Amino acid sequence: MAVTKSLKLVDRDADGVDLAFRADVLAGLAEAQKAIPARWFYDDAGSALFEDITQLPEYYPTRAETEILHSRAGEIADLVGEGRAVVEFGSGSSVKTPLLLSAIRPSAYVPLDIAGDFLRASSAALAAKFPGLPVHPVEADFMRRVELPGEVADLPKLGFFPGSTIGNMIARTATDLLRSMRATLGEGSLLLIGMDLVKDVDALLAAYDDAAGVTARFNLNLAERINRELAGDIPVESLRHEARWNDTFARIEMHLVAREDIAFTVSGTRFAMQKGESIHTENSHKFTRRSSQLLLAAAGWEPRARWTDEGRQFSLVLAEAARPRSAP
Ligand code: AVJ
Repeated sequence: MAVTKSLKLVDRDADGVDLAFRADVLAGLAEAQKAIPARWFYDDAGSALFEDITQLPEYYPTRAETEILHSRAGEIADLVGEGRAVVEFGSGSSVKTPLLLSAIRPSAYVPLDIAGDFLRASSAALAAKFPGLPVHPVEADFMRRVELPGEVADLPKLGFFPGSTIGNMIARTATDLLRSMRATLGEGSLLLIGMDLVKDVDALLAAYDDAAGVTARFNLNLAERINRELAGDIPVESLRHEARWNDTFARIEMHLVAREDIAFTVSGTRFAMQKGESIHTENSHKFTRRSSQLLLAAAGWEPRARWTDEGRQFSLVLAEAARPRSAP
C-alpha cells in the first residue's frame, strides 16, 4: 500500500505521558478562569465523539462545508490545478478529504494529526480509496512549523484546513498558526480553509448543545482524558456542559461548570472549584466576509476565491501565500 510509516513528532515521558498535554492542563487549571486548549479534546475517544457530532441534526458546519465542496469542485479544481501535494492540517477521518482529492488530481497527500491511531486508520482507508496516490502521514502538532516528508519537498502545496478549526483559536493564536502554515507550505502555496459564519444565536447554541447530549459527552471526555492520562481524580459527575455565545468576540464558548464545590488532583497537583465556577474548554469563533479576509491578510494569505453554501451558513476560502508587496 502507498502509505509511508507515520513520522512521530510528539514528546512523551517514560510513562508515555504527552508532555505538552500535561503542561497545558496544569497551567490552565492554575489560571483564575480555568481554561484548557480545545486541541486536547481529540484523543481517540474524543475524535470518535466529534465524528458523531458531525452527524447531529443541529450541527450544520460539516454538511454545509461538504455541500460547498460538492457544488464547487469544478471551480476549485480550475483554480488549484493538478499535481499539488495536499497537506491536511488535523486530518481526523473526514469525508471531505476524498471529495477534494478526487476533484483536483493531486500528486501526494500528507495528513497531519496529533491523534496517532486515528491518523494511521484514516490514512490506510484513504490510500485504499486512491490506489495511485502516495500518502505520507505525519503525527504532529501542527501549531508549530512542521518539517514535511522529503518526498513532497519539490511539489507545489495546497494546504487544506476544513471544519473551521481555525475558529478554535483567538485572533493572536490563529494568526500565529496561519503564519506557521505559510512557513510549512512555502511561498506560492495555496490554502483552502473552512470558516464558519456568524448567524442566529439560537441556531449556534443548538449546534453546540445538542438535544441528544453528544456535545456534552465530547466536552466531558476532556475531564475523563485528564483522569486517564494525567493520573487525575476529577469528579466528572460534578461537572456539566455549557455552551455560551460571547458577542464581543463573536464566538461560541464551551465550559465545564462545577455543579457543587469540588477539589481534585492532577499529576500530583491539587485544584479546587467553587460551585458555578467553570473550566473554559473551547472557543469556536464565527466569521463574516470581512473578518475572515482580515484574519487571512494579517498572516500573509491573500484571498483568491470564497464560496458559501446555499443556506449561507459556512464559507470556504482559497488563499495564496503571496509575496509581501509594498502598498500604502
Ligand atoms: C472541529 C473545531 C470545527 O468548533 O465546531 C464541535 C469542534 N466543538 N462541537 C467546532 C466542536 C463542539 C468544532 N471544530
